[in-house]
Amino acid sequence: MRAIGLSNFYDGRYIDICEHADVKPAVVQLEAHVFSQQKRMQELMRAYGTRLMAWAPFAEGRNGLFTNPTLEAIGRRHGKSAAQTALRYLSCQRATVALTFAWSTPSFPASASSVSALTK
Ligand SMILES: NC(=O)c1ccc[n+]([C@@H]2O[C@H](COP(=O)([O-])OP(=O)(O)OC[C@H]3O[C@@H](n4cnc5c(N)ncnc54)[C@H](OP(=O)(O)O)[C@@H]3O)[C@@H](O)[C@H]2O)c1
Repeated sequence: MRAIGLSNFYDGRYIDICEHADVKPAVVQLEAHVFSQQKRMQELMRAYGTRLMAWAPFAEGRNGLFTNPTLEAIGRRHGKSAAQTALRYLSCQRATVALTFAWSTPSFPASASSVSALTK
């Protein structure tokens, strides 16, 4: 076995695996989005060489993420939506692996993949 990934392992459970398993976790999937960035866990994971992978990178649309005034204002300057801005921040500024899913709107996945076009 060359790599393992975990989901919803926090603090002690995560450290336990890292300290005792021969193969260290390559990624841990945690709920992570602009409203809950998991900075403390990400810092801990850095020490063991683990990347944070976000589940619900759009907070499942909660707390008005898609119409958040700050995200919209930043996005407007770059011709991007609040969703794209949130994804750009998470993946580029926070170095978090973020996989999004959309069922209702065929253009969402393509629009998500264009976030690298945002300048800093
Ligand atoms: N490991 C775990 O414990 C755990 C727990 C929960 C979820 N997950 C996984 O995490 C993944 C992501 O979760 P999720 O999809 O529920 O949450 P999410 O990515 O935070 O939000 C999904 C919502 O965002 C909308 N959306 C997607 N792309 C968009 C865009 N570009 N612009 C505007 N809206 C957009 C979707 O629309 P639509 O209405 O078109 O779909 C959907 O309503 C899933 O694979 C899920 O299985 C893991």
